[in-house]
Amino acid sequence: MSDRRRLLPLLNTTRHGSRDSMTCLYRCGNACDHPVPNQSDNPYLGDLVSAEMSRRGVVRAGALGALVLGFSGTAAGALAGSPAAAAPAAPAAAAPGRGPKAGPLTFSAVPPNTLDTVVVPNGYDHAVLIEWGDPVLPDAPALNIHRQTGATQSKQFGYNNDYVGVLPLPGRGDRALLVVNHEYTNEDLMFPGFTSQDALSVEQVKAAMAAHGMSVVEIERVGRTGQWRLVRSGRRQYNRRITALATRFQLTGPAAGSPFLRTAADPKGRTVIGTLNNCAGGMTPWGTVLSGEENFNQYFVGGDGASDADKARFARYGINTTARYPSGSRKWDRVDERFDLTKNPNEANRHGWIVELDPFDPEGRPRKHTALGRFKHEGANVIVTRHRDVVVYMGDDERFDYLYKFVSDKKFMPGNSWVARQHNLSLLESGTLYVAKLGFTSAGEIDGSGKLPSDGAFNGTGEWIKLAAGGRSYVEGMPVDEVLTFTRLAADKVGATKMDRPEDVEPSLATGKVYVALTNNTDRGKPGKAPADEANPRNENKHGQVLELVEAGGDNAAKTFTWSLPIVCGDPADESTYFAGFDKSKVSPISCPDNVAFDGAGNLWISTDGNALGSNDGLFATHIEGPERGHLKQFLTVPIGAETCGPFITADDRSVFVAVQHPGEISGASIDNPKSTWPNGDYAKPAVVVTWRLDGSAIGR
Ligand code: FEO
Ligand code: CA
Ligand code: CA
Repeated sequence: MSDRRRLLPLLNTTRHGSRDSMTCLYRCGNACDHPVPNQSDNPYLGDLVSAEMSRRGVVRAGALGALVLGFSGTAAGALAGSPAAAAPAAPAAAAPGRGPKAGPLTFSAVPPNTLDTVVVPNGYDHAVLIEWGDPVLPDAPALNIHRQTGATQSKQFGYNNDYVGVLPLPGRGDRALLVVNHEYTNEDLMFPGFTSQDALSVEQVKAAMAAHGMSVVEIERVGRTGQWRLVRSGRRQYNRRITALATRFQLTGPAAGSPFLRTAADPKGRTVIGTLNNCAGGMTPWGTVLSGEENFNQYFVGGDGASDADKARFARYGINTTARYPSGSRKWDRVDERFDLTKNPNEANRHGWIVELDPFDPEGRPRKHTALGRFKHEGANVIVTRHRDVVVYMGDDERFDYLYKFVSDKKFMPGNSWVARQHNLSLLESGTLYVAKLGFTSAGEIDGSGKLPSDGAFNGTGEWIKLAAGGRSYVEGMPVDEVLTFTRLAADKVGATKMDRPEDVEPSLATGKVYVALTNNTDRGKPGKAPADEANPRNENKHGQVLELVEAGGDNAAKTFTWSLPIVCGDPADESTYFAGFDKSKVSPISCPDNVAFDGAGNLWISTDGNALGSNDGLFATHIEGPERGHLKQFLTVPIGAETCGPFITADDRSVFVAVQHPGEISGASIDNPKSTWPNGDYAKPAVVVTWRLDGSAIGR
């Protein structure tokens, strides 16, 4: 990589915990300035160990017979081209689990730093694959920061890349589709001369709207290395932009058509324009991408004339109806009145869903699946059980919000046929939605300090509480469309467990165990707020923890589970940290786990957002089985002000993709006065980076 970039100091100007105030403003609309949306008085459960649970004994590894998604081999080969070139490819068949292979993590840990660059271990290299403004559609103009419009940005790579998925293009050699979420925009880092949202021109607001959404981009391997680059010529038939500005979505599932989802422009309540704040996501075994609509609340204003019931619903989702423009407001109503809840009271209900995009169908309409519930979706990750149930794990990323799962009504259909793929494309349209309620083994010992209980573990049991199934509600007093549209309120009623910001929730395809990144919660234990519990064991939790969930009988569709915390994050010198009992002198400091991934050996990779230890965010890897469990090492760090998103590891383990989101997002920074100049040495741009090992072998090992 060239080194013409300037190295700048990390300006640790903080307001909301570890986060820079600019992050708070743009990413979540200053959520911390507003009341915590969950004001419910759910009970805190005591120990829940029952004879029933005890009889089940130790839960065995669940994926021995599971059907899972792979990148190479079977799943890739299954995506055979369909008769019509532009039509959806044939289905991705389920593949046998990769299964853990022996392989220690041999790389030398990258030390904490505040450098304005990406740092990888010795023996590795990295390159920017694509950055904000790069052409996506073949006729896209080059980025001109002085002449940004909705039309230009709708053809270019969007802003603030988050989720990264790579799907092989069958029959096309070493080509693949890169699918990326664009979560939000930083207008002051995008538009020269920026002074305020009010001062943006209509075209600049439209450019910001078009910079939200998703991108699909054809990429190809560089030689025989682990590096990838954009396909820059030819038809690139799959390249596509999905935007908040113009893309139409189909609502599916039991709440589609509900009165809650009808607007004047869409009286049937089945077609939505735009997707908002697409954060993390996941790939399905049938070759589609799921994308979570997260902090959608910040895009809506008004609603002051709403009924008390509607105001309560808005409030539970963080929508402030008392001030026309609460702090953090994007003021998009200046350009499009669908963002004004006084004029369009139901428009906000049409966001906050899981989106399913079929990247092999470039003309197809993406869908928003109401069966998976509506909340601040971080992402969604799929595993198929040995009984061919499709199970989707999901987190609601807000302080004191909940952990969910969905189990399909219909069974996954393996095979490469068109019929199988059409069947599988319908799997997320009906099923059972559950929320998690946790029990504890050491409740009486939890004092909020993070001290390990005398039984040697933060651990317990849990149950999945049914909210809706088969188009029926299981929550008293709420019809099914209400449960699915106002899922947070339904989950409040059944006493779900309040978690420390559940972000990525991802099953290991090697073991079936599920890992939950709980990022932080500086309000835990404050007056009037839920106190620490065994799963969220520290008050004013700055650094977060990782929860491991093992489903009963190794069946991901089970109704009960056990859980433990393998990692309680922070500086290893801090007594409140825990690394599965591993020697803390050998682990890297880690703060604010956000997204997780697995390599082919079953190792757990964790990316961070908001490092409260004063250094840049990064990507870490640890063994999660065997004697090295908890031996966590930092693999990569991102530039100043950035968060590490993605990550995505190819099934051959030779490439790791990360999305560098919001580089230079520091108070006082602007595109005219950047605090980061990554990646090109002039001003900061979000970009997707690929990392590979110089000797061409597996990453990490
Ligand atoms: Fe968009 Fe929860 O991170
Ligand atoms: Ca315990
Ligand atoms: Ca995230």
